[in-house]
Amino acid sequence: MMKLEIEGLCVSLQGSPVLDRLDLGAREGEILALLGPSGCGKSTLLKTIAGLLPTVAGSIRIDGVDMSSVPAHRRGAVIVFQELRLFPHRNVADNIAFPLKMQGVDKKNRRLRVEELLEQIQMTGMADRRISQLSGGQQQRVALARALAAGPRLLLLDEPFSSLDEELRGEMRSLVLRLHREHGMTTVLVTHDKEDARALADRVALMSAGRILRVGAPEELCP
Ligand SMILES: Nc1ncnc2c1ncn2[C@@H]1O[C@H](COP(=O)(O)OP(=O)(O)OP(=O)(O)O)[C@@H](O)[C@H]1O
Ligand SMILES: [Mg+2]
Repeated sequence: MMKLEIEGLCVSLQGSPVLDRLDLGAREGEILALLGPSGCGKSTLLKTIAGLLPTVAGSIRIDGVDMSSVPAHRRGAVIVFQELRLFPHRNVADNIAFPLKMQGVDKKNRRLRVEELLEQIQMTGMADRRISQLSGGQQQRVALARALAAGPRLLLLDEPFSSLDEELRGEMRSLVLRLHREHGMTTVLVTHDKEDARALADRVALMSAGRILRVGAPEELCP
């Protein structure tokens, strides 16, 4: 059974079709890279999987369960948005703990979990910093930690390295690989960059104009 199965997915934004009978599957525990030109619908696809956009037609199943009547917060799918969407005036700890608070986790356990995650993203001791006082790379890592806090079944990463310089990109790639090994969640990673796909992905899906054109090994599709 596939972890994620998408069949014939159609999504329109403001009346214009953006996803067009799209088919895609992700296997349990894999990193699937989604590559395609700007505007082809990659972010729209992630938001739709997460339950943030309505579908016109088609189906999305997670662990074999149809998601059409499952609200976003019950899907076990978490997005790290292209624009991060952290709370800029709150501190790092509050940002990471936010999903735990929503789940009703008590204060003591929230604090413990935040400490653990800060260590994993190598930001121990920065719990009290405001988001606006962090570098771009640090903000990316906080967004990742916030996504992992809730223990997602499916992690959706929308260009997590795009705003970083080459050296930081390398560091973030290693971090994502390490977190993926530790947490083991199925991951869909949107990127423009073939090198990201080669470094991280088990499989690659090529997207164009709202459809998936091909799925295959990174060596084959990102030579
Ligand atoms: N809120 C919206 N209303 C109407 N059209 C939108 C909206 N958001 C995106 N679109 C359009 O939908 C299409 C797909 O957008 P999307 O953001 O999914 O692309 P993308 O592949 O993520 O691009 P990028 O690589 O630049 O992030 C584009 O043509 C875009 O102009
Ligand atoms: Mg996008």
